[in-house]
Parts: sequence; structure tokens; C-alpha cells
Amino acid sequence: MGIISTIFTWIWFQLDLIVHSGFPVFFWVRPRWSIDDVPDQSGKVVLVTGGNSGTGYATALSFYYAGAKVYLACRNEQLAREAIDQIKKGGVIGLNGFTQPKPAKKDGTRKKGVVEFVKLDLSDLESVDQCAQEFLKKEEKLDVLFANAGVMASPEGLYTKQGYTLQFGTNVLGHHRLINLLLPLLLSSPPTHPSRVILTSSAGHASAPNGGVDFKSVVRDPSDPITREGQQPKQGKNEKMRWVEYGQSKWGDIALAKYLHNVYGRQGRLISVAVHPGMVATNLPRHMSLTPYVTKFAPWLFPVVTRTSDIGAVNQVWAATIPDHDARWISGQYLVPYRKVGIARPDLQDDKKIEEVWNWCDEQGKKWA
Ligand SMILES: NC(=O)c1ccc[n+]([C@@H]2O[C@H](COP(=O)([O-])OP(=O)(O)OC[C@H]3O[C@@H](n4cnc5c(N)ncnc54)[C@H](OP(=O)(O)O)[C@@H]3O)[C@@H](O)[C@H]2O)c1
Repeated sequence: MGIISTIFTWIWFQLDLIVHSGFPVFFWVRPRWSIDDVPDQSGKVVLVTGGNSGTGYATALSFYYAGAKVYLACRNEQLAREAIDQIKKGGVIGLNGFTQPKPAKKDGTRKKGVVEFVKLDLSDLESVDQCAQEFLKKEEKLDVLFANAGVMASPEGLYTKQGYTLQFGTNVLGHHRLINLLLPLLLSSPPTHPSRVILTSSAGHASAPNGGVDFKSVVRDPSDPITREGQQPKQGKNEKMRWVEYGQSKWGDIALAKYLHNVYGRQGRLISVAVHPGMVATNLPRHMSLTPYVTKFAPWLFPVVTRTSDIGAVNQVWAATIPDHDARWISGQYLVPYRKVGIARPDLQDDKKIEEVWNWCDEQGKKWA
């Protein structure tokens, strides 16, 4: 019986993974909601990691035009400032990456909020500390923290400044530290309106190793030099590991969301959700060698396999803006396209493994305090 139910669960997970991947071919899986539909967010303070690009940009745009104060937490100040200019002009990212003006709302009243830059390099824990310090100096509350930034399929041999593999170090360890440092502020919101932490995960979490995270594999071998993103990593490494590494980082993101729910969400002190945004045309595949060729010779492929960033941002913006009593219901869950509680990989039901990820990140954090 045990084996049959395990097989059934596995098949069900794989089917759900395919249908709710966000591929446009599953035409009936549509958002039926837009990031322009968010209710008034005046008075809200929101921080979006990686807010200069892709789903992070669309998220920031949505909150700005709903009247919120939005912080773009980005590693590249110039790109962040350009994004802020675009947001103020109402630029929307299309499938080809260019921005077009955002159509004015029908009633002609477009509320505008405030948008600011704060420096954050998730691949350097010192920068994460500085970002949190700067934010805490400026703000006395944080309504929504979007742990959105990410790096995908980077070659093996690239590390964060402290020597963790680039994808796990950026996507999980960096975000864990930021959340941890901002946690007292997040938990200080009134119980009637708990703050929300939304982690952008991926259907790619399915490619994590058995059990989720292989902690040994995310720490640099001492014989390897610390090669940072943008530099040439040591050659001859395993290509498949790029995806396993991405998978375990996205598995780790869901684990962080579930841990926060288990510890604080169940007490009603915080709402924490992980989302898969769908297949979205963004800068994410920059580490894949085929990307420049597809962009140049087969741009028609984009609408076939991807959707735009504003659609990619639907799940996270929705989770961050639905009324509190509905949001409590989705806390601790993994959302798939669109606005649907999805099935995360069955090993994510193991609370011990989830706690292990949080505790391991805590332990690493102490080494670099
Ligand atoms: N696109 C998809 O189909 C898809 C599917 C599933 C999940 N996701 C997830 O969606 C999230 C957003 O990605 P996207 O698709 O919008 O890609 P994107 O356009 O490449 O945006 C990623 C953002 O993360 C930032 N970032 C990367 N490394 C960073 C670091 N060390 N410190 C601070 N920021 C850093 C990037 O900054 P720079 O601009 O400076 O590089 C960029 O702003 C990611 O977590 C990704 O895993 C995307």
C-alpha cells in the first residue's frame, strides 16, 4: 500500500508539474487576473530583491502604481536607476525585453507611490547585512518582502564571496540572511495585518537531489579558487550539475517559506508563501549558451514557450495583496500558475528537512557574522 501511494503521489506531482509549468501551450492555464488589479496599497512598504528586471520589475511596477513605497534591492545601481526611470514612465517589459508604455487605467486615475534603490548583492553576505542596516535606518515597517532575485543554471565553479556555490548561495543563503535580519521588523506588524514574505521559487525545484539539499555540494571545495560571477570558472565540470544546483536552490526557497510558516505563520504572526511564476521571458537564462542564438535567430520562440514578466509576476503580486484572511489560508503553500495552490515535491512535506535547511543557513550565517 505504501509503495502504491508513493508511486501515485509521484505521478500526480509530475502531471501537475507539467500542466502548471506556465508553458503557453497549456492555454487554459491563464492568469484571469492582472497585476493592474491590485487594490490600493498606499501606506505599504515593500522591498523587492532583483526589482530591476523580469518578474521583480513587474512586481515593483504594480506596487508603485498602487501607491506603495517600493524599494528595489539590486546589486547594480545603474540598472536599478534605469529601472526606476522606466517604472516612473510606466514601462512594461514585453516578450522581446523592450519596455512599452503602460496603458493608463480606464478611469484615468493612476495612483503613484514612491520607488527607491537600496544596494543588495545576495552573493555577498556583507552586502546583505549592509542592505538590511540601510533599510532598517530608513523604515519602521515592512509589509511585504519579495525574495525574488535569482540566478539560474550558472556554470559549476562559480561561488559567492564567502565560497558557497553561486545559485544556492544567492537564491537561498543570501535571501535567508536578508529575511533573518528583517524578521524582527516583519514580526512587528499588527496581528490583524501580518507582514508577508513571498519567495520566488520554480517548478525547477523538481530537479533537486533526493531529500532536497545536498549541503556538502553547496560549499566550495577548499582546493577550488573563489571564482565570482562574470569570471571564467575552472573548466571540465559536470554540466548536469547546473540544473541540480538550480533545483536544490529552488527547493530551498520553498523550504524557507514553509519554515517561516511553521514557526510564525501558524501563530498568525507572518504570512509566507513560495511561488512558481511560470515560464517567463526574462534575463534569467543568461548563463545558457543557447540564449543569444534563440534571441537572434528564433525570437518567434518566445511567445511559444514563455509569457511576459507582468504575467510572471501575477502569483507573487496576488499572494502579497489578497485580503489577510485569504492570505492566511495560502501561508506555507507553494503557488503555481495561476493563483493556484500547487503540489510541491513530496519530500517538501517533511518538516524535519525543512527545518534542516533553515538551521543549516543559520549555522553558516554565524560563521560570517
Ligand atoms: N523566468 C522564468 O521563467 C522563471 C521560472 C521559474 C522561476 N523563476 C524565478 O523568478 C525569479 C526572478 O527571475 P526573472 O525570471 O525575473 O530573471 P531576471 O530577469 O534575470 O531577474 C533576476 C533578478 O535577480 C537579480 N540578481 C541575480 N543575482 C543577484 C545577486 N547576487 N544579488 C542581487 N540580485 C541578483 C538580477 O540582477 P541583475 O539584473 O543585476 O542581473 C535580476 O534583477 C528568480 O528567482 C527565478 O529563479 C523564473
